[in-house]
Amino acid sequence: MTAQTPSAQNSGQDSALSAVAWEQRYQSGTPLWDLGQPAPAFASLLAAEPAPQAGSAIVLGAGRGHDALLFAQQGFAVTAVDFAPSAIQALEAQAQALPIQLLQRDIFELVPEFAGQFDYAIEHTCFCAIDPSLRPGYVALVAELLIPGGELLAVFFTHSRSGGPPFGTTPAEVRQRFEPHFEIVTLEPVANSVSSRRGEEHFGRLRKR
Ligand SMILES: C[S@@+](CC[C@H](N)C(=O)[O-])C[C@H]1O[C@@H](n2cnc3c(N)ncnc32)[C@H](O)[C@@H]1O
Repeated sequence: MTAQTPSAQNSGQDSALSAVAWEQRYQSGTPLWDLGQPAPAFASLLAAEPAPQAGSAIVLGAGRGHDALLFAQQGFAVTAVDFAPSAIQALEAQAQALPIQLLQRDIFELVPEFAGQFDYAIEHTCFCAIDPSLRPGYVALVAELLIPGGELLAVFFTHSRSGGPPFGTTPAEVRQRFEPHFEIVTLEPVANSVSSRRGEEHFGRLRKR
């Protein structure tokens, strides 16, 4: 598999999608995207029988870390990545004794340092937060971070409004972008989204080929 992730210099992010802009959103008050709880789709996944076996997991664009905390509480060795310092600080305050490694870092700068280190990658409103032109690089990044057979566990924001962030996607786009590198194990509408996202989320379980 050839995987080309964009470097920080040529990532194509416009200024509204920069670390500074995201940090300002955190500092200006309650971020609209922050559910104040883990994604219900992840809570259901981990409560199901059988649940995914605990392992190493990287949470991309972790924000204040509600999903990272959930996975850590379930025994996963979590690495939470976000380039906004306020997000990382908020998670640090919550994490306490849980096994969470915190990284204030651009996700597109994780490789080669973290290549092939994770059983799971966790995606929730990061794919919709980056410039859509970076989506091929995001797919390549996730493929590079995972071990062979590793899984992307994702809640995709499948809304159809124009513009962003959040930039919407479709199940067809997810299949088209990920299938060259991943087996699509599951890609289905989320039944228990929070009310503001009802009918606009798909849960995906994608296994690296
Ligand atoms: C919409 S928020 C979602 C946060 C969290 N996943 C949640 O659901 O609450 C997107 C997050 O991704 C982070 N982010 C966006 N682009 C990033 C990048 N290139 N590298 C690291 N973090 C990034 C932002 O700082 C922000 O915290």
